[in-house]
Amino acid sequence: MSNTENEIDYGPLQPLIGRWEGTKGTDLSPEPDGEESTPYYETLVFTEAGTVANAGQQTLAVLRYHQVVKRLSDNEVFHDETGYWMWDAAKQTIMHSLLVPRAVGVLAGGTYKASNSTNTDSVELKVAAKIDDPDWSIIQSPFMRDNAKTIAFSHQINVSANHLSYKETTVLDIYGKVFDHTDENTLNRCGDDH
Ligand code: HEM
Repeated sequence: MSNTENEIDYGPLQPLIGRWEGTKGTDLSPEPDGEESTPYYETLVFTEAGTVANAGQQTLAVLRYHQVVKRLSDNEVFHDETGYWMWDAAKQTIMHSLLVPRAVGVLAGGTYKASNSTNTDSVELKVAAKIDDPDWSIIQSPFMRDNAKTIAFSHQINVSANHLSYKETTVLDIYGKVFDHTDENTLNRCGDDH
């Protein structure tokens, strides 16, 4: 892995780098008898992780991230997520890997749109995965597969110099129904990534 900071072009992932905080999150989760909506706050930190070369042909510029989400009602952590965002400049492809500590992992792929064609200071990133997609898919433990199966995932981030908003949908097969488990928040940049 190469990590010569300042020389690496993170392309449309560049504006993500740093530390973000937001207090206006909303989670919609499944319950046996319906659903639950929970207001939350969070910190989201993206750190430069350099580049990787794959099979001597592909170069990815990589950011590592960590998201910690707490309930507004009791300040308890109720979601913790980590992974990478990867940029393949040659293919103009974005990849987003994530793990949640329920024994579920996702590798989502997608593209970006820049609001200004001359730079990537303000971008929309969109990635998705599906359980039966040969390219971008989902892995999970046998328990989750059988009881709370993630069947699709989509994630959109809009980021500019000081604001980041996202909406993600995790489609679950749980409690005998298909449920759109959604999360969204708007965050502000707050300093560096320490
Ligand atoms: C900000 C993001 C997220 C928050 C705050 C959140 C929060 C929650 C909450 C509160 C539940 C209900 C748990 C319970 O009833 O005991 C839940 C369920 C679940 N979440 Fe998330 N989640 C988030 C993102 C994700 C992501 C990205 C995935 C996977 C791709 C995921 C996968 C699941 C699964 C599989 C369940 C079903 C387990 C169950 O309800 O027993 N979640 N989540």
